[in-house]
Amino acid sequence: MPSGITRRLFFQQSFLAGAGALLWQRLNPFASGGSASRRARQAGTPIIITSKTNETGQKAMELGWEILSAGGSALDAVEKATNYIEQDPEDTSVGYGGLPNERGVVQLDASIMDGKTYSAGSVASLENIMYPSSVARLVMERTDHVMLVGPGALEFAKSWGFEEENLLTEKARERWLMWREAHSDRDDWGPPDHLKGREEQGASLDEQLAYTYGTVNVLAVDAAGDVAGITSTSGLSYKIPGRIGDSPIIGAGLYVDNDVGAAGATGRGEDVIKSCAGYYIVMRMKEGRTPQQACEDALHMIAGRYRAVGLDFLPGEKFVAISKDGEYGCCTTTGSRQPRMSVMNEAGLNIYSGSIAFQTE
Ligand code: GLY
Repeated sequence: MPSGITRRLFFQQSFLAGAGALLWQRLNPFASGGSASRRARQAGTPIIITSKTNETGQKAMELGWEILSAGGSALDAVEKATNYIEQDPEDTSVGYGGLPNERGVVQLDASIMDGKTYSAGSVASLENIMYPSSVARLVMERTDHVMLVGPGALEFAKSWGFEEENLLTEKARERWLMWREAHSDRDDWGPPDHLKGREEQGASLDEQLAYTYGTVNVLAVDAAGDVAGITSTSGLSYKIPGRIGDSPIIGAGLYVDNDVGAAGATGRGEDVIKSCAGYYIVMRMKEGRTPQQACEDALHMIAGRYRAVGLDFLPGEKFVAISKDGEYGCCTTTGSRQPRMSVMNEAGLNIYSGSIAFQTE
């Protein structure tokens, strides 16, 4: 389990920093009286961040940091960190263990962008390959294309030696079976009509039925000042087969500009595609907005588009961003908990709390 390593690192780095207050703040990201933007001033490069804050996400930051602190490239760092998250069977939103489409098939989307060479690659609806971000990197580096989809992406991955694996874990399969039986009473899935209501559906039916858009973003700036990013996901749970979200769309779920920084998106991909949110965030930073402000701007922009056509609709999104000089930020649309992201730089590992764009509760 990565937890031991992570906790050891936490304490080593906190004590090396030699500040009790800093230690308290790192271990208790919600306890600080300081604002999100104040904590973000622990900026600096090299830096690597991810939208994941669980133990896997924190361990992924350590792996990426090993590369960055040794003078390695942002591109290698984001790939290594993402691969670690993609292989986690407990994560039902990315890679192995991701929730499947409505037919029970795991279909993965991923994109990668290298600011240093202004290059991008992506794969969509890729089945049976655990590391879609690495396949996306090969599309970027070994073809003159940017995006490969479905059977073509699989054939390409196999040609590079990736082995097909069953990505549907028992946990994900059980959730899918529950969803198939319970999401509608107007089909023939589930117990026969005369026995309906007599079976226990389990304590967490709501959770089984909830659609999820979980995704991982990993962004980095290396010691040379080059910027890279990856977004990887199993996409919307129980989606219509072939549905592609924002994650593999350059400019939507991911954008990198070597002169400015990078941005990534999680959440309802349809809105991120329509708004080109990743590109928008980076362009806001180019205009002088901080990463934190730029993420907030993007969510207000999306809500504004709906308002402009008479709709009071707030799609669930979380955006993360870093600037070339190592500032960072994140923002979510709404909810009761601040969005969080893992940040690793010379100051150590920090769980940063961003902002909520619309306070509705
Ligand atoms: N943001 C992930 C998706 O919509 O597929």
